[in-house]
Amino acid sequence: MELRFTKEQEQWRIRAQRFAETEVDPAVSRMECADEFPAVIVGRLAELGLMGIPIPACWGGAGADFISYVAVIEELAKASATVGVILSVHTSVGTMPLIHFGNEVQKARYAANLASGRWLGAFALTEPHAGSDAAAIRTTAHKHQDHYILNGTKVFITNGGAADTYLTFAVTDPDRGARGITAFLVEKDTPGLHVGPLEKKMGLHGSNTRQLIYEDMHLPAAQRIGEEGQGFAIAMGSLDGGRIGIAAQALGIARAALETAFRVLGLNAPARTGRTAGPARKALGVLASESDRLAELAARTEAARLLVYRAAWLRQEGRPCTKEASMAKLFASDTAVAVASEAISLLGPEGVGNELPLERLFRDAKVTQIYEGTNEIHRVVIGNARLKE
Ligand code: CAA
Repeated sequence: MELRFTKEQEQWRIRAQRFAETEVDPAVSRMECADEFPAVIVGRLAELGLMGIPIPACWGGAGADFISYVAVIEELAKASATVGVILSVHTSVGTMPLIHFGNEVQKARYAANLASGRWLGAFALTEPHAGSDAAAIRTTAHKHQDHYILNGTKVFITNGGAADTYLTFAVTDPDRGARGITAFLVEKDTPGLHVGPLEKKMGLHGSNTRQLIYEDMHLPAAQRIGEEGQGFAIAMGSLDGGRIGIAAQALGIARAALETAFRVLGLNAPARTGRTAGPARKALGVLASESDRLAELAARTEAARLLVYRAAWLRQEGRPCTKEASMAKLFASDTAVAVASEAISLLGPEGVGNELPLERLFRDAKVTQIYEGTNEIHRVVIGNARLKE
């Protein structure tokens, strides 16, 4: 058992950490205030080879392992959860499914453009009436000669409007439930695709979340990914990897909140102990309790890290990881919310002010409990998996 990064994994992590410190950190306030998609940062991710880390080199990626990719997400998300989720959705559920399920022609056209970062990918599953119950989607794809006609609406699509491709799930056989769903790759300029306005969110400012409307879209059959009826399994299998990315994003947020609390409380400690004996003794008691609370949060964050990298290792090995991905996502996202919230409580008025990143981290943490499967769904997935063991 080896609980440390290999040299190559550590090099990826350091590369991401340096980029986060030098280029992402300075861009955060603009993303926050203008709620503007960070196109320049995404362009730099492409230049640095970070847009296709786990994609084989023959398809335009870096050919690194899944753990390296997860380490990069963690470091980027520590600086900006927005950049973390853009990269996670693009890679895990926007690009990887093409590697696993695309044919050679599709890989040549799409995987190479996506993995190099020339194009940005997105994943269109959720609908107004089908969020947690993903098999209940109503978008239809009727086969007509050599093409399909798509009609329907997708909501809360990350990278919506910014993406070049949308991996889209639609019903081809309504009588077959989950087995009647098929995956399609839709290019952004396909006639019949309408992109809705930007959703205003409490957090993740700069991350584009939009509705997509498919209106009598004639899509060549060559755009189908995998077989008819294979779409639900493609979606779920891809989300296994996606959820590990979101768990790493949550881990980055938790670390950022924890480090802020340690830094601020540590710096202020001498001033707050005071000089006189009476108040100083009382203040020292307060510091001890603060230190206890921070210690709990630090231990919890480390536990989240272990779950995240165990799931990443299983994914990398090609082993089943549905339960472990759900555990990592559930625990890491709850940890991110708890650490950000508790850090704010510990710092009081300073914690809620926007001089520190804590209020942003708290807002950004919340959605990690919701997207790529709500934590209620992950409890169901974990419970079902345990029952089968
Ligand atoms: N990998 C491969 N196949 C899988 C799978 C997995 N992880 N999980 C299920 N399947 C297959 C099953 O084997 C089954 O196949 P067969 O019919 O051949 O036996 C089929 O899928 C149906 O499985 P279930 O009966 O378990 O499916 P279900 O209808 O009960 O749904 C669920 C299960 C876990 C609740 C699922 O609906 C789910 O995950 N819901 C949450 C949806 C979600 O995560 N949405 C995220 C949207 S994307 C997003 O948020 C991105 C973003 O913007 C950040």
